[in-house]
Amino acid sequence: MSEGISAAPAYVQNERLKTWVAEMAALTKPAQVVWCDGSQEEYDQLCNLMVDGGTFIRLNPDKRPNCYLARSHPSDVARVEERTYICANRQEEVGPTNNWAPPAEMRATLKGLFDGCMRGRTMYVIPFSMGPLGSPIAQIGVEITDSPYVVVNMKIMTRMGAKVLEVLGKDGFFIPCMHSVGAPLQPGQADVPWPCEGDISRKYIVHFPETREIWSYGSGYGGNALLGKKCLALRIASVMARDEGWLAEHMLILGLQSPEGEKTYVAAAFPSACGKTNLAMIVPPESFEGWKALTVGDDIAWIKPGPDGTLRAINPEAGFFGVAPGTSYSSNPMAMESIKANAIFTNVVLTDDGDVWWEGMGPPPAHGIDWQGKDWTPDCGRPGAHPNARFTAPAGQCPTIDPSWEDPAGVPISAFIFGGRLSKTFPLVYQAFDWNHGVFMAATMGSEATAAAIGQAAIRRDPFAMLPFAGYNMADYWSHWLRMGGRSDLKLPKIFRTNWFRKDEKGKFVWPGYGENMRVIKWIVDRVHGRVGAVQSPFGLMPRYADITWGGLSFGEAQYAQIMDISRAGALDETEEIKEFFGKFGASLPSELEKQREEFAKRAEGAPDVWKIASTA
Ligand code: GTP
Ligand code: SPV
Ligand code: MN
Repeated sequence: MSEGISAAPAYVQNERLKTWVAEMAALTKPAQVVWCDGSQEEYDQLCNLMVDGGTFIRLNPDKRPNCYLARSHPSDVARVEERTYICANRQEEVGPTNNWAPPAEMRATLKGLFDGCMRGRTMYVIPFSMGPLGSPIAQIGVEITDSPYVVVNMKIMTRMGAKVLEVLGKDGFFIPCMHSVGAPLQPGQADVPWPCEGDISRKYIVHFPETREIWSYGSGYGGNALLGKKCLALRIASVMARDEGWLAEHMLILGLQSPEGEKTYVAAAFPSACGKTNLAMIVPPESFEGWKALTVGDDIAWIKPGPDGTLRAINPEAGFFGVAPGTSYSSNPMAMESIKANAIFTNVVLTDDGDVWWEGMGPPPAHGIDWQGKDWTPDCGRPGAHPNARFTAPAGQCPTIDPSWEDPAGVPISAFIFGGRLSKTFPLVYQAFDWNHGVFMAATMGSEATAAAIGQAAIRRDPFAMLPFAGYNMADYWSHWLRMGGRSDLKLPKIFRTNWFRKDEKGKFVWPGYGENMRVIKWIVDRVHGRVGAVQSPFGLMPRYADITWGGLSFGEAQYAQIMDISRAGALDETEEIKEFFGKFGASLPSELEKQREEFAKRAEGAPDVWKIASTA
């Protein structure tokens, strides 16, 4: 670490960076400025500082070596979509699904908020790379923050520190990411464990896409504060990707290795809390002898055309920021292995022996301290962990991490998979007829709102799982995907949709899911290599029962029919709901997508009342 009020250490060569940091220090008026070098000593020192200040609790080193627990303020537990803005010059640029404010007006608001906001605090300067250092797909950002919690999380989630400045050099490009928890300290005022702006209407997560800038005020949690993640790697990067002809996506990246050693990579987009981390770390069933599933990333993929026209993907992150509740040795053993040491836990239960627990991990402790710092027992009527409690862990600790996960050239993607959480109508898996149909399938993806009004259309559309993350007009984003499909120089991946969540009439999931999803993934891999059949349904191309590898699982044809048969009425409802959804985008909707919708409607109209997979040849 290098400290001073504003003079940069001698190794900082980049003039634009030095000027920006000096300007931000003058605006925010911190007690001191620290340039982070990214070393382990710096990490340990900051963790100790937070233990002393009450932000961190050191966990029992025999149970969780080098691990810490943080409890956030109860008002600061998740991303705040309603306070997230894309301030492009013109409102049409951001479309109907993003918040917009005139840039000049927003800049004035931010200037007011940031003026003096770091008084009494330390301002940290964090140079970071999204993607392996020096990779042609990677990007450099610099985050300024007054939160040591952010610094240590950025150390796990990104490649961070002085080495980034070497790559940046004198005049390299970086994305400035300005962050404050928005809680200045008056002289003599004691700090609190989780400082933040308590008034939600004074929190701001702001992006200026034209100038590639991020300003975040008032929150210390996750995607609001770790600005390399959703703000840079999705919202700003999606705009850069549009301008430069690549893709920045809310996708996991998974490698499948066959017993013969053939390697196939897929990238999959599921909305938040729909199981990306589970699939990224899938453990194939025992009957899949010789098959290996290898993890490249669990949340974000940056995908660029390689010299041979294949789409090459990198995981821009270096760690996992995963949902803790529901994670267990049965649901996700590789995640459990990844968090055995060197991890940060936020908003989970502290057990009496200094370890962590959350709902769905296994048998609860008889007593613990809940995420709000209160005494907790299993029968007290309150959840112990917050539903959005998270772990932060280095990706390299995952036992199934792919040997190529840091390859600067990325891994070649052969299939895109899109999946939502849908209890009816939608089959377990289907393939697009072609690229444009695949874009339609992804654009109309959604998940069921859990507490929907009775009898109402309950699908919350989350196109490409990018609804909260596209940094420009969603309809233009679809056009960008359609344009990529029109490029004759590219070897395009095949496109699929999956749905692990179809329920029977008693409301139970029919499909066992988790590791058994490997059976679906294997059909996808086999389709990519052209060695397995499919039949045409109103939705797309579907596997017959015999096209799936069933060894080791008792799942009969009748059960299969429950998750593959298609109700004509359900499909027709879907075409109507899509019409309404597309209507929101007015003239910016690509005509190709309305054409796809009409073709889907025609297929649905021509189908029998129940289209049966078993009756296909
Ligand atoms: P973000 O980190 O928020 O982007 O989310 P994520 O996509 O990584 O999702 P997360 O790991 O939070 O999703 C876990 C949820 O998906 C839990 O509710 C799981 O129960 C559920 N889930 C994952 N895989 C399956 C499956 O195969 N079947 C069923 N029924 N549920 C699953
Ligand atoms: C998501 O909400 O999709 C996340 C968590 O991955 S956060 O980083 O907080 O946005
Ligand atoms: Mn996510």
